[in-house]
Amino acid sequence: MQPTRLTPKLSPTLTIEDIVSRTADLPTLPAAALAVMRESESATGSAQSVGKYLAQDGALAARVLRLANSSYYGLSRSVLDVSEAVVVLGMRNVRNLAMVASTYPWMNKPLKGYALAPNEMWRHSFGVAVAASLTAEKSRKVSADEAFVAGLLHDLGKTAISVWLENKLPAMLRIAEKEGLPFDAVERKVLGYDHMEVGAHMAESWNLPQTLVDVMRYHHRPSELTPTNAMVDCVHIGDYLAGSMGFGLGGDGLGYQFDENALSRVGLGVDDLDSLADAFMVSYDQHERLFEETK
Ligand SMILES: [Fe+2]
Ligand SMILES: [Fe+2]
Repeated sequence: MQPTRLTPKLSPTLTIEDIVSRTADLPTLPAAALAVMRESESATGSAQSVGKYLAQDGALAARVLRLANSSYYGLSRSVLDVSEAVVVLGMRNVRNLAMVASTYPWMNKPLKGYALAPNEMWRHSFGVAVAASLTAEKSRKVSADEAFVAGLLHDLGKTAISVWLENKLPAMLRIAEKEGLPFDAVERKVLGYDHMEVGAHMAESWNLPQTLVDVMRYHHRPSELTPTNAMVDCVHIGDYLAGSMGFGLGGDGLGYQFDENALSRVGLGVDDLDSLADAFMVSYDQHERLFEETK
């Protein structure tokens, strides 16, 4: 269904479907980026097929090429087309570049419903992508590349409901403070659902892999997913790490509980958080060069 342009008015009967279908400028992932994502995960995916899908979207291919040629990768010569980029950088690296290039344009916008200034949602999402992928790497339970994408997209639902919360933010913050509730609980109180549920709904409507749907739905409460999933655990830990270092948090702050069981499930302990935090700062600085060139 095409989103229609309406002035958002908060109503207690607004369903998730309403939110998704009635929000103007709802974020989208280009069809080519979704195809690249599916192809890079499929058993039959190859450098050739990934390059072919990416080349179908000229604008996206051009952004990916610009990133591939950025100083971050330090290639000795310029990569001229996307098939070459896939060969030189690898299928999963190019998939991640396609995701960065596709999400930056809308994650960079301000999210007034969460008091996030321009760029803050992006910094948070990119920070969680980096932190989740480092956690995955250390735990060796799931692919670090996939954790990067999962981290990048985890708060997707915020981009859809932000506009509906704008006028309510001061009241919501008051409720959070007065009742001692985390911000996601206030979302549920005001809307009947939260950004996790909305994100999961969007991920399902885009046919994203089930693990990503689970990441959207359970990243605040990883122990509630049965059976639990190491990818959800890594994103939960990444969200905590990036958040605790002040990466792009606005209205909802650190307002939800860190679940230490997620750490033990991926074979890590509280002591590992310090070394992960150190690694995060180094890795984020390195990535920032790439990040600067996505602008
Ligand atoms: Fe979240
Ligand atoms: Fe988050």
